[in-house]
Amino acid sequence: MKLTNEELKEKIIELKEKLDVTIVAHFYQRDEVFEIGDITGDSLELAKKTQDDNSEFVLFCGVAFMGQSVKVLSPHKRVVMPKLACCSMARMIDSMYFDDSVKAMNEAGISSDNILPITYINSNADVKAKVGEMGGMVCTSSNAKVIITTALKEGKKILFVPDRCLGQNIANNMGLKSAVIGEDENIADADIICFNGFCSVHQLFSLDDIAFYRKKYPGILIATHPECDPSICDASDFVGSTSQIIKYIKELDPEQKVAVGTEFNLVNRLRSKNTYVLSSTKPECPTMNETTLEDVYVTLKAIEDGSPINEIEVDTNTQKWAKIALERMMAL
Ligand code: 13P
Ligand code: SF4
Repeated sequence: MKLTNEELKEKIIELKEKLDVTIVAHFYQRDEVFEIGDITGDSLELAKKTQDDNSEFVLFCGVAFMGQSVKVLSPHKRVVMPKLACCSMARMIDSMYFDDSVKAMNEAGISSDNILPITYINSNADVKAKVGEMGGMVCTSSNAKVIITTALKEGKKILFVPDRCLGQNIANNMGLKSAVIGEDENIADADIICFNGFCSVHQLFSLDDIAFYRKKYPGILIATHPECDPSICDASDFVGSTSQIIKYIKELDPEQKVAVGTEFNLVNRLRSKNTYVLSSTKPECPTMNETTLEDVYVTLKAIEDGSPINEIEVDTNTQKWAKIALERMMAL
């Protein structure tokens, strides 16, 4: 017989008391999974807090690059994921596409010595390793501006992968010039040269959605994630990472109306009479939603039985260089 969520929750709590395991959950997880997280937060907070945690096992409820980043930063930890769900944006680039991007820049007259690569944390370890080997670093949506500011001090052209929107939004915010490989001519003129990747969930928000809310509720604020298209971020009152959006909304006057452009589970948790989802289509991240309480229970049970499932492994060379790229970010 299928267990109810309440029964599963009880069993999960019982197992957690017996085992040396920390449950980590991103804001985009289903409510019932998010609620059992010992550590919750945005991508940067999860990476930092999990690094400081001492449990033998990390049970990561999120998408694969997140669990992989924990393993890369702390290879002695055993990282398991209830679902090996992948971020569709992270899947848009691998080490071959990364090399092709460097080649495209070379063909545009930019020598490899003059390229500093930055990868959004939403990328797999092989891409992070390539970036680390070339002297570059990782960024997240909450620290991208700091990372780019530091990177620019080297006086090189920035290759930004995989999210063109985050790269373009930061460039616009800092008054820099950006270009997208394969889309724009004269990429050599730009300061930030972006790979043409994107998040399909954040592409759902449109200028029509913003116009609709502004017309319906004059004075409403619009808060969006920097994975949205630059046209959307330019038309927003606030742009920030998941944690930054939550903080922004919690600090607003309760009577202030706000429409939020990021993943549904997060916005739904914030929803009140004055907080709206900035989309007529439910902006769910299908892969973040794959993980269920039952998956968490099964994964904990496998640890108890001595045969953990869905354990994350990263080969030594990839781990070494990806760690360097992640640690350069952590140091800032
Ligand atoms: P945050 O770093 O803002 O949590 O974003 C992660 C993510 O995948 C957004 O789509
Ligand atoms: Fe990846 Fe987009 Fe899902 Fe975030 S919302 S995990 S970027 S697919």
